[in-house]
Amino acid sequence: MKPREIIPDVLAVGAQDFDRRLFDALIPLPDGTSYNSYLVRGRDKTALIDTVEPAMLHVLEAYLKDVTRVDYLISNHTEQDHSGSIPWALERYPGAQLLCSEPAKPMLVDHLGLDAAKVQTVADGEKLNLGGKTLRFIYTPWVHWPETMSTYLEEDKVLFSCDWFGSHMAATDLFVDGVDCILAEAKRYYAEIMMPFRKIVQKNLDKIGDLDIRLIAPSHGPIHRDPRSIILAYRDWTDDKPHNSVVIPWVTMHGSTAILVERLVNALSERGVTVFPFNMATADIGQLAMSLVDAATVIVGAPTVHVGPHPTVLNAVVLANALRPKVRFASVVGSYGWASKMVDVIKGAMPNLKVELLTPVICKGMPKPSDLVAIDKLADTVAAKHRELGLI
Ligand code: FEO
Repeated sequence: MKPREIIPDVLAVGAQDFDRRLFDALIPLPDGTSYNSYLVRGRDKTALIDTVEPAMLHVLEAYLKDVTRVDYLISNHTEQDHSGSIPWALERYPGAQLLCSEPAKPMLVDHLGLDAAKVQTVADGEKLNLGGKTLRFIYTPWVHWPETMSTYLEEDKVLFSCDWFGSHMAATDLFVDGVDCILAEAKRYYAEIMMPFRKIVQKNLDKIGDLDIRLIAPSHGPIHRDPRSIILAYRDWTDDKPHNSVVIPWVTMHGSTAILVERLVNALSERGVTVFPFNMATADIGQLAMSLVDAATVIVGAPTVHVGPHPTVLNAVVLANALRPKVRFASVVGSYGWASKMVDVIKGAMPNLKVELLTPVICKGMPKPSDLVAIDKLADTVAAKHRELGLI
């Protein structure tokens, strides 16, 4: 296996993981993922930017078989899918200096069991001259851990961004060219790990706003040859204004909640609102997360189980609460057999969402005509709220 040049003296040496189907025992990976690692060769010194998930170390080893000297190991991000093979790299290249941001140092020591004396920090904005290749380190915190930084190659205008601008996608092509779905893949990834830090991502976008960037080389997924398009997409995803859409995570047991949800989906779409319903019994939570990026409203559809909401739907509420989307309105529709406290439980499970709660529609047993009228009124209210925000 030979490393491939992305530009002269900058080589891709990472691993494509076509078979991985789950990340963090949580995130579905329909298209696998990659752990991108880059070798930058200057006239005098060589740097390796990030490593790979230890399970794919054999790929990195093969690419670096003939690379006898690395002077610097640069860790943009401590999470193990990028840092996990650093201990191997330090053994392979005992003369190499490990460089990271200041907040990353204790994290590398804790997560990898490294000797602190082997870890050298770089300041925000500090430069490293490799000889005709100058690396500038730019702190970009919370994309998506507090210690993350990006590395900018000044002469070639390449931004090595690690997770942000990345996508969980394994591909044989190094570049985005021809990958039509890349913005969807990148949005999915943003939703899953960066959306909770939307405001800080906005600041990071401002921070790199003046950089002249020719290529964005993330640590997952293909390289962007059109940085503007992915940066503009990030601007939209992090913008404060939501879109005219409603996300409905729901599940049904005996069909009552399904009737309410079907009526609601139709009523909202008749009023010009885009709806993304997700039956949580089978839904891909990555798709749910993507839809939450833009949604103005989330409406939970749940039957009652032992007085509380069905746990499968409650999981979706817990996830939405953790992802902190920019939703403005929320409600609950659902059913119960003899008693229910699920609205209170659902409200209590989403303290991070700064939403106005719209009147819930909860029916006993199968929905009656009056319940369906209440659903239509809820749709009226949602449409009116969206109109007030200028979304319709
Ligand atoms: Fe790809 Fe946050 O690690």
